[in-house]
Amino acid sequence: MDTLTDIAVQKAEQSRLPEVDLDNPGFGKVFTDHMLEMEYKNGEWKQPVIKPYGPIQITPALSTLHYGQSVFEGTKAYYIDGKTVNLFRPEKNYERMANSCERLCIPKIDRETFLEGIRKLVKLDHKWVPEKDGNSLYIRPFACAWDTQVAAKVSDTYRFYIILSPVGSYYDAPVRLITSQNYVRAVEGGFGEAKTAGNYAASFYPARKAQQMGFSQVLWLDAFDHEYVEEVGTMNIFFLIDDVLITPPLGGTILPGVTRDSVLKLARSWDMDVEERKIGMTEVMEAARSGKLQEVFGAGTAAVISPVKEIRHHGELITIHEDGRGPVGQKLYDTIYGIQRGKLEDRFNWTHSIEVA
Ligand SMILES: Cc1ncc(COP(=O)(O)O)c(C=O)c1O
Repeated sequence: MDTLTDIAVQKAEQSRLPEVDLDNPGFGKVFTDHMLEMEYKNGEWKQPVIKPYGPIQITPALSTLHYGQSVFEGTKAYYIDGKTVNLFRPEKNYERMANSCERLCIPKIDRETFLEGIRKLVKLDHKWVPEKDGNSLYIRPFACAWDTQVAAKVSDTYRFYIILSPVGSYYDAPVRLITSQNYVRAVEGGFGEAKTAGNYAASFYPARKAQQMGFSQVLWLDAFDHEYVEEVGTMNIFFLIDDVLITPPLGGTILPGVTRDSVLKLARSWDMDVEERKIGMTEVMEAARSGKLQEVFGAGTAAVISPVKEIRHHGELITIHEDGRGPVGQKLYDTIYGIQRGKLEDRFNWTHSIEVA
């Protein structure tokens, strides 16, 4: 054991890196040599440890498996050169995780432990950060209930982990969306804004139905009127109508995306007309019919900006982008990805560089 500040490090005896094709890693299938682990018991989080990545021992009574008291995050590390790896706004992921913990009754993790844990782990496994354009190292921090009791109650014990996975691009096909009149992802007063397992579990059945109908994902609408747009599976959504960039407001039912926030800040800095407001499908469909719907794209860590090719709503299909992104989506993608990869000036101080050599 050697110690880097107060995070103990137990190194893997042998790296698995030679077995991995970093140019084609898929998404979330391969994990690096190490992980961070931290225990919560007797009312406090204990010292975190970085140790070799591997199986964890649980019993069938682990409360997380039954009641889903868990939260997670997703951010990425980007290859800059042989000496540097960049993180992108990890403090926003910390804030969101702290809010998710609050909503799920999980004791908050200390900010510095979260951020320093990511930095130390990424530094240790920096050789796993893919160089190839479009690829990166996905960072998955998560916390979950650890009581071994089959009882629907707040757990007394928890575990926090950070695991790392080299990834390629997430959506390679243009996104085709369908709205649903039968299913919703979240309701006001629920926990739609928390990054917690249950939100994703609830979305799988409708998403599978959408896929069976030939669509990539569901475009979620509000739970009351089935009219106002919310978000997509793992992305926030933007519409460019008559040169105005519109996105639904954060009101508790959608995830406050880091990419969403970056898009808004960039667009405002370019003096674009930007509106965070409710947007109904009636307005979207009318804009499409009258030729005013210029662009639609999803924004999320996985793909940065994903153009939406088609939307089907109440049996009517609109086609927005035949291929690729529109000019605004492309400019946003180029700017955000350019900043992430250290190729463009970082005017907003979004990147955190980690010296790895
Ligand atoms: C439901 C949902 N909405 C939006 C997003 C986009 O958030 P971010 O830009 O922080 O990746 C994600 C991805 O984490 C998500 O899972």
